[in-house]
Parts: sequence; C-alpha cells; structure tokens
Amino acid sequence: MHGGRKKTRVLCIMMMLNVFIFILVGVSRNLGQDRGSQRKVHIPSKRFWRKEKTSLAFWNKEQQRLDFIYNPILMPALTNDSLRVMPDWLNDTRPPDPCRPDYGVTTQVKDFSSLPPRFQDFLLHMRCRSYPMIMDQPHVCKGKPYLLLAVKSLAPHFDRRQAIRESWGRAGVLANHTVATVFLLGDATAIDHFPDLSGMLRHEAALHRDILQWDYRDSFFNLTLKEVLFLDWFSQRCPDARFVFKGDDDVFVNTWRILDFLQNSSGMAKAKDLFIGDVITNAGPHRNQKLKYFIPESVFVGTYPPYAGGGGFLYSGDLALRLQNISQQVALYPIDDVYTGMCLQRLGLAPEKHKGFRTFDIDVKYRDNPCAYKSLMLVHSRNPNEMIKIWAWLSDPELDCQ
Ligand SMILES: *[C@@H]1O[C@H](CO)[C@@H](O)[C@H](O)[C@H]1NC(C)=O
Ligand SMILES: *[C@@H]1O[C@H](CO)[C@@H](O)[C@H](O)[C@H]1NC(C)=O
Ligand SMILES: *[C@@H]1O[C@H](CO)[C@@H](O)[C@H](O)[C@H]1NC(C)=O
Ligand SMILES: *[C@@H]1O[C@H](CO)[C@@H](O)[C@H](O)[C@H]1NC(C)=O
Ligand SMILES: *[C@@H]1O[C@H](CO)[C@@H](O)[C@H](O)[C@H]1NC(C)=O
Ligand SMILES: *[C@@H]1O[C@H](CO)[C@@H](O)[C@H](O)[C@H]1NC(C)=O
Repeated sequence: MHGGRKKTRVLCIMMMLNVFIFILVGVSRNLGQDRGSQRKVHIPSKRFWRKEKTSLAFWNKEQQRLDFIYNPILMPALTNDSLRVMPDWLNDTRPPDPCRPDYGVTTQVKDFSSLPPRFQDFLLHMRCRSYPMIMDQPHVCKGKPYLLLAVKSLAPHFDRRQAIRESWGRAGVLANHTVATVFLLGDATAIDHFPDLSGMLRHEAALHRDILQWDYRDSFFNLTLKEVLFLDWFSQRCPDARFVFKGDDDVFVNTWRILDFLQNSSGMAKAKDLFIGDVITNAGPHRNQKLKYFIPESVFVGTYPPYAGGGGFLYSGDLALRLQNISQQVALYPIDDVYTGMCLQRLGLAPEKHKGFRTFDIDVKYRDNPCAYKSLMLVHSRNPNEMIKIWAWLSDPELDCQ
C-alpha cells in the first residue's frame, strides 16, 4: 500500500515538474515552433487538457469542466448528487445563465485588466452560444441541395455578396446539381461605429432570400460564434444537404471544380467524413501581442490540432451534423478555424489538405491566365470585379486549356 502511495506522490511531483517546464518553455519561445525539441515530448498535443488537472489557462480549465460534465462515466453520478462528486477545481460559482456576462473572469484570469479589450469581451461572453436570429431563410434548403455554400460576410459588404450571387455562388442548378447559397451575418453595431444598414439589409434579404443574420456583435473574435450558430441552423434547416462549403466573402471559388470533385468522390466510403481545405499542422498560439492571432498564456496553453484555414473548406453534410453535436462539448475558442479543428479532433478526424485550396493566392504571373483557375477550388483573395471576370472565363464553353 505504502509503495503505491509513494509512486503516486512521485508521479504527482513529476506532473507538476512537467507543468513547470511547459510554462518555462511557453514563456521563453513561440510554441508554434521547435517541434523537434526533446522537452516537448512531455506535452502530448492530443487531448492535452485531460492530462493536468489544474491547468492555469482559462480556456483549458473551461474545457476540463466540459469534459467532466460530458464524461459518460461521471455523468450519471453528477446528475444524481452533483456537488458531491464535483472536485473543488470544477465548482461552478458563475451565473447560471451562460448569456449573462461572467464577471468572475476578471479575477480568474490573472492578467485580465491588462488584456486587449477584444479578449476581455470574449472572456466575459465565452459561455453564451445562443443568440436570436434577426433574419432566417427557413425554405432555402427545401430543394435538398447537393451543395450548400455558406459565406461569412459582414453587413456593409453588399458588393461582395452581389458579385458572389452573380458568379461562383449563383444558386440554382449547376452541372446538374442543386446549389443553395446563404450569407452568414452578425450585427454590425454602433459600438463598432457602423452606420445603420438594417433597412438596406432587409431590402436585400427580401430581394434574394439568402441572408441569415443573428443578433450578436459581428467581430473577429465572434467568428467562432458564427460557426456554431451556422451549425445549429444547418441541423435545423438544412440537414439533408449532401455537402457544405463554408468560406469568406473575399475568396473566389471554382464551383465547377468542386462539383466535379464531389461527383468523383461521392461514391467512396470516406465521403461521409470528407473535410478538405488548406490544412495547417503543427501550429500553436502566437505569443506576440502585435499579431492578429495573438493568444495570451492566461487564456490558452497547448498546441493546435490540424485545422483548415477559415478562408474556405469543404465538408460533408453528415459531418456538419456531427460537428454541430460535438461543438456543444468544446469551449468556444477565439479563432474560428482552430475551433473547427478542435471539434474535428474530438470526432477522431483530421481535415485533409487539398492543393486546390490556395488561401495564399497563386503566382502573380498566372493571375490573369484563365486556365490557371481551371483546376483550382479556391483562391484568396479576389475582389468583386475579379470574381465576375474569372467566373466568366471559367463558364465560357470555348475555354480550351489543353
Ligand atoms: C442516486 O444514487 C443512489 C445511491 O447510489 C441510488 O440508489 C439512486 O438510484 C441514484 N439515483 C439515480 C436517479 O440514479
Ligand atoms: C462550491 O461552492 C459553493 C459556494 O461557494 C459552496 O457552498 C460549496 O460547498 C462548494 N462545493 C464544493 C464541493 O466545494
Ligand atoms: C442529372 O441528375 C439526375 C438526378 O440525379 C440524373 O438522373 C441524370 O442522369 C443527370 N443527368 C446528367 C446529364 O448527368
Ligand atoms: C460577441 O458578441 C456578443 C453579443 O453581441 C458581445 O457581447 C461580445 O462583446 C462579442 N465579443 C467580441 C469579442 O466581440
Ligand atoms: C474527376 O474524374 C475525372 C475522370 O476520372 C477526372 O478527369 C477529373 O480530373 C476528376 N476531377 C477532380 C476534381 O478530381
Ligand atoms: C450527438 O451526441 C450524443 C452524445 O453526446 C449522441 O447520443 C447522439 O447520437 C449524437 N447525435 C448525432 C447525430 O451524432
């Protein structure tokens, strides 16, 4: 018995040492690099948050809580006499309504007051995942589309949306397949000094019936919210769509090529698990405050799972439903494409890299060559005029690229 206890104590000390080394390593250099380092072996990238009971970072702690709640072994005990089995570090003293700002974070995150305001906003509202819809399109999928194009847009981007409707996002039948298009919008609010565009948006929605809008502040850190709200909407309104493309409104998508690809692969067994894009592997949070993707140590520690760049990715409708389901168990993360990677990882899947996704554009000398786009699926970035020009090239039956 004593030997066992000693072993446990030694194990505990070793784990604490690991945490300590991990923090040292994290502080002294960028976690995204130096993958080959010997010491990194101590921190497995998969399910890392299960390993140390008391992680110091807020997101990791939040995830531990969710893991506990959704653990199929502990769950029955939890619902029976919840507080008795709940360990101290999980004791939830926050407002029961997840959509009330959680001011507890101001003390739980040690450097809260010195964090950039976008992090403060994010942390205060991190648990809220349901916002009412301002505009819905309940019938957009009644034709059971083969491909649903879901485009992340921002209220003032009228011209981008119109160019997409007139080019790669034209809803209807293309190459003998039904395509439906929706634009995903939050609220461009007065806090962010947007003019009031609600009247124009209502007009646009009545004209095209492709605008989905939710009542939350449309900001960079709320893109993950856009992702989960879209998945919720999809499972309600569009569960029969065979495939989904989700991307930004500043990309050109070769819808012809995508349909051709799907046609080729839809017979295969793995089509159910299809998830392709421009995949980033071995990445981690940036610790440089000046970068757009900066994440402080007090918010997240660990590495990122493989993820497909948010410019655009393609996946099966079946997988969209599973992602919707699993997303309930993954704490919101401020970077939306990383978040989707986290959800995929929990499903035991990884996105697959496809060289047709060019989120870093193509060589300058090919950009005006129609044939350069023929075999691509996505190019970032293109403005509205370019989208229309390139689409005309690709739709021309005379285009000969032999
Ligand atoms: C709660 O636990 C008690 C004691 O283990 C058990 O008798 C009871 O059936 C449980 N109740 C539920 C609803 O699982
Ligand atoms: C959880 O916190 C509440 C309020 O602080 C306290 O009353 C309760 O005893 C705590 N439960 C456990 C298991 O620590
Ligand atoms: C178009 O699709 C329908 C239904 O999927 C199929 O029956 C038909 O053969 C297709 N036509 C062509 C030209 O591929
Ligand atoms: C996200 O949207 C909610 C609801 O509008 C808002 O309270 C919160 O501040 C937003 N978060 C960020 C980081 O902008
Ligand atoms: C689909 O299959 C055809 C015929 O095998 C091939 O020519 C074409 O390149 C394939 N398309 C894609 C996108 O893989
Ligand atoms: C969603 O997850 C629950 C468990 O969390 C599972 O019972 C259910 O079958 C899942 N549904 C789908 C559609 O995957």
